[in-house]
Amino acid sequence: MDTIIAKPTQSYIEEAGRLLRAGRLVAFPTETVYGLGANALMPEAAKMIYEVKGRPSDNPLIVHVSSVDDMYDLAEVNSAALPFIEKFMPGAATVVFKKKPIIPDTVTGGLDTVAIRLPSLKVARDIIRAAGVPVCAPSANTSSKPSPTKAEHVMADLKGKIPLIIDGGECQIGIESTIVDFSGDKPRLLRPGGIPREEIEKVIGTLATDVSSDRPLCPGMKYKHYSPAAEVFLFKDRELALRYAEENPSVVVIVRREGGAEKSADDFKRCALECFVMDDDYKYAHSVFDIFRTCDDKGVKNILCEVPLPKGIGQSLYNRLFKAAGGKFLEKIYG
Ligand code: TXA
Ligand code: MG
Repeated sequence: MDTIIAKPTQSYIEEAGRLLRAGRLVAFPTETVYGLGANALMPEAAKMIYEVKGRPSDNPLIVHVSSVDDMYDLAEVNSAALPFIEKFMPGAATVVFKKKPIIPDTVTGGLDTVAIRLPSLKVARDIIRAAGVPVCAPSANTSSKPSPTKAEHVMADLKGKIPLIIDGGECQIGIESTIVDFSGDKPRLLRPGGIPREEIEKVIGTLATDVSSDRPLCPGMKYKHYSPAAEVFLFKDRELALRYAEENPSVVVIVRREGGAEKSADDFKRCALECFVMDDDYKYAHSVFDIFRTCDDKGVKNILCEVPLPKGIGQSLYNRLFKAAGGKFLEKIYG
């Protein structure tokens, strides 16, 4: 199959809508990451997503809509969620509710709940509206690889497997949406993401994160995720990172500007292949998956990532870095 990559002109938005409605797969941009869309009302279309991504079939998909009203057709939207919906949707937030029968089990991995997202990126909403059906879409990468934040990333993973990629440029946020489950007795944070936890708690109070066995969690979080071919390590202590870069070939380092990164960057540039300096944790989240993929293209062996601050977007970014590193810290190696 030829894969076309096209700018979001009116005619390609309509073409994307036609393909989706007909049960084909289309990759499209959102403000978080690129999504791999399918008609959420067609079980065979959703099934193709799992095949194309190599995704375990018990890992449910997020259903994307183009308006808040459309959510009511798909799920039992409860009143506890209304202030959240009012404040954060459209945006980088996903809500989980009890599903209505119209959503096939293939989409929810057999759960009785459904995750719903209304992206803020207009191109994404235009495509969903053009499809005329809800669109289930995971991130448009091969399962376990870094999430795609540029159309080229989607092309690298899915070329020949899908007919169309809509190229909306770089994703503004760069990590996935925050998922909040409203289907239980209290709102629960299932995945930190583009909207920081603190901002949500200002609106709806403390979010539960504890895990009780009778509640379905976010099945996707148990799998290996976001990983480049290079081995990723986290670090807090720049001296340790410098030592590792001196002792090992083919190392790339990511440091935060805070705390005099310029001096460290000079040091790293002497022994590492490259050192990326992140102005802040938003910039870090925006760039991290692109850096991972660039490193893989160059055959880099190790990527050393300075940990972000444990607050705001830094907390969500930390979650992605921790998974990409499989929890490995340089501090433990040299401990
Ligand atoms: O920003 C995003 O959310 C992106 C863009 C494309 O919208 N999508 C995305 O999808 O990250 P994906 O499939 O890569 O991650 C979806 C996560 C998985 O961890 C999955 O387990 C969880 O959402 N999920 C989906 N439905 C669920 C449900 N009913 N209950 C709990 N978790 C659910
Ligand atoms: Mg994903």
